[in-house]
Amino acid sequence: MSASVKELVSKMTLEEKAMLVVGAGKARRVPGAAGETRGIERLGIPSIVTADGPQGVRIEGDGKPYPATAFPSAIVLASTWNPEVVEKVGKAMGEEAKEYGVDILLAPGMNIHRNPLCGRIFEYYSEDPILTGEIASAFVKGVQSQGVGACLKHFAANNQETNRRLVDTIVSERALREIYLRGFEIAVKKAKPWAVMSAYNKLNGKYCSENEWLLTKVLREGWGFDGLVMTDWGAGENPVEQMKAGNDLLMPGNDDQVKAIIEAVKKGELSEEVLDRNVENILKVIVKTLAFKGYKYSNKPDLEAHAKVAYEAAAEGIVLLKNKDSTLPLGKETKIAVFGTGQIETLRGGLGSGWTHPKYTVSILEGFKEKGLKVDSELAEKYEKYVEEMRSREEYKPKRPGVPLPPPPQDFLSEEEVEKYAERNDVAVVVVSRLSGEGWDLKPVKGGFYLSDDEKSLLEKVSKAFHKYGKKIVVILNIGLPIEVASWRDLVDAILLIWQPGQEVGRVAADALIGLINPSGKLPTTFPRDYEDVPSWSFPGEPPDNPVKVVYYEDIYVGYRYYDTFGVEPAYPFGHGLSYTEFEYSDLRVEVSADSIKVKFKVKNVGKYPGKEVAQVYVSPPRGEIPKPLQELKGFHKTRLLQPGEAEEIEVEIPLRLLASYSCGKWLVEAGKYEVRVGASSRDIRLRTEFTLEKSLSYEP
Ligand code: BGC
Repeated sequence: MSASVKELVSKMTLEEKAMLVVGAGKARRVPGAAGETRGIERLGIPSIVTADGPQGVRIEGDGKPYPATAFPSAIVLASTWNPEVVEKVGKAMGEEAKEYGVDILLAPGMNIHRNPLCGRIFEYYSEDPILTGEIASAFVKGVQSQGVGACLKHFAANNQETNRRLVDTIVSERALREIYLRGFEIAVKKAKPWAVMSAYNKLNGKYCSENEWLLTKVLREGWGFDGLVMTDWGAGENPVEQMKAGNDLLMPGNDDQVKAIIEAVKKGELSEEVLDRNVENILKVIVKTLAFKGYKYSNKPDLEAHAKVAYEAAAEGIVLLKNKDSTLPLGKETKIAVFGTGQIETLRGGLGSGWTHPKYTVSILEGFKEKGLKVDSELAEKYEKYVEEMRSREEYKPKRPGVPLPPPPQDFLSEEEVEKYAERNDVAVVVVSRLSGEGWDLKPVKGGFYLSDDEKSLLEKVSKAFHKYGKKIVVILNIGLPIEVASWRDLVDAILLIWQPGQEVGRVAADALIGLINPSGKLPTTFPRDYEDVPSWSFPGEPPDNPVKVVYYEDIYVGYRYYDTFGVEPAYPFGHGLSYTEFEYSDLRVEVSADSIKVKFKVKNVGKYPGKEVAQVYVSPPRGEIPKPLQELKGFHKTRLLQPGEAEEIEVEIPLRLLASYSCGKWLVEAGKYEVRVGASSRDIRLRTEFTLEKSLSYEP
């Protein structure tokens, strides 16, 4: 293939080459897709179409969006800790892309959750690079099994939305290699994605799209990436620098960029070999695409089958944060009073380029009714009227049809009214929602990271009234990022974190409440006790009102690596998630070979319900020369559905390479005693054992 690609390049004029490396500005073949390249008819090179994104295929159409499944947000997929389920989602999304004529899907998003306020956390997987890399690999494999390319984004260290197009992100090479690049490295090596999208921000002084170290030294030469690199939409400043850095394709592209590239070659400022290299990288991908193969797409993806995949993934990603005295599951006859406007205006996903256009979204209230839960219908009607009334008011009116707004004030019921519902129902369910999206970060204020006064007072009222009658309160969190929970969680008996799980949201929420789904998700990111505890205190940079620079002072101590090493208690730790059943861990053994360790143990369901457990393997390093986190996740395994009394023998293989730290230009595994810790969360370690490495190991980057 590459011989024919080379031949193709040799036939191209300079103008044609410049046209190929600059996108067409707007997608025409599939109107309202995020972008398209320019075809060169004379040479039989078709245009290829790109579309967002992580939550489902987004095609705006000519004023009428293409219906596509709204899958669970990326943070939900990571919460499943189940690569098999994630691969199914990738496959389904790939099939939708394929049947709509899309060649490259602009997903997965895989930036690290550096700070809980980042508006796009819902679109990214985790604070941990291993979990990120494994989940992304599964997703990419699924998408690409359909002959559609996946595109890892946003490369790299795009961990905030504030001033994302210009902010200079200052990060040590160690933190880059160990935290911010590692997930990408895993996915590049394991899943061979067709494309990578360079990020908007600068990295250590240079725009990512103009950063030769990042795009050529690390990505291509270091990791062997052989796909194409495209810019984020309108990223960077200088098309010639982008070409030189190894950013093959400029998206969405404009004619000025084409001209600048032609002129630079003519003036000798850009060598034609560099341009040829980029053209080749693009062509190598084009010849793999459905467009090149002349695939006749149907415009009829199997949305019914994919709804089931969306449901399954959403179900596996639910995290049960708290369940005092087995409040959940509820009996099917339990009378439920549902509070919170989020029961009607339920959020399926986050906003921005990852927004979706499904045929339907089942709201929480609809899901409860459909599944036959006994909801207080008078209260439900009250909420329906309230939402309608508020949304007709100027200040709460939607600006764009179909795009959600922040919820109206939550505390509109009097104490007497709440008391009436407490008397005649068995349990209260309060829906708490938080909207977030591309282009803005949350603030560490009430209504942002903290509950607003009206959300808090609703919880207080409901708690007082229901507890007075000895009845329980369940909170459903319909959020895309961690919020503060420590100050109010004692008011309630159970907290079910459903995140923003796509179009089937109401159905999965209902099934989880009544135990048809036994929650088996675990947190892919820490819920800090207070914003003050968050290590990335420099977020979103300096000067605070309009940051141009953000320094990652916390270095490698991101998420639990910080909380665990420095003894800071989180509200809910990384990896946490309860189940309606109980699991017992036993029989830990470790076998060390020349290049890996095998960690073997047993997990048994010792409770009353069938359930799945996510067993996590952390490794605690010896005290050597390089300062290191107390422990780091090195592997994990989700069990199959275990019936009560049933056990699974588990084996997790960890390459020794994965234990390395980056030091002085090398990956180094220091000799000494390592502790292997196996547990149900980063703070619920059930089994420990040790092994000794006699000699240090080192690897070239
Ligand atoms: C986003 C990308 C997205 C692109 C195309 C950009 O603004 O950052 O994630 O893929 O738009 O819609």
